[in-house]
Amino acid sequence: MLSATSKEAIEDLLYRYEKNPRFLLQLLLDVQERFRYVPTEAMRSIARYFDIPESRVFAVATFYKVLSLVPKGEKTIKVCQGTACHLRGGKQVLSAIGEKLGIAAGETTEDGIFTLETVNCLGCCAMAPVMMVGDKVYGKLTVDDVSRILEAEKEDAILSKTR
Ligand code: FES
Repeated sequence: MLSATSKEAIEDLLYRYEKNPRFLLQLLLDVQERFRYVPTEAMRSIARYFDIPESRVFAVATFYKVLSLVPKGEKTIKVCQGTACHLRGGKQVLSAIGEKLGIAAGETTEDGIFTLETVNCLGCCAMAPVMMVGDKVYGKLTVDDVSRILEAEKEDAILSKTR
């Protein structure tokens, strides 16, 4: 159940758009950005606002990988498992991250800081193996780099809450 503040935040997002379902995806992206996932109550509100079936909102929300129906961490780690990265140790990097954080791909750490995902190419194969943490790219990774990077990123997430 969302708090009154969260419900107000959803209403604020709704009223940025005309009552036209062509804005459905953009609105869902806004909700995702605000809450780090798309709450069920937001989908219901959107359906009412656009006067469309809830099933249509749900279908769009589940179609796009960028949208999540469960809360994501503050930082998403995208570990490339494409061919170039795979050949240069991407699998070992993924295992090291999973071990360090105690989660598998698709999961979020208990402290809500990291969500771990795999991707098929991050477009910088020359730097393989590659991962992104938030919008930062880390290339030519070794298993030994993982711990240091994740600790620095965690510290940054904690500090950003106090700023
Ligand atoms: S295969 Fe990993 S960045 Fe392209």
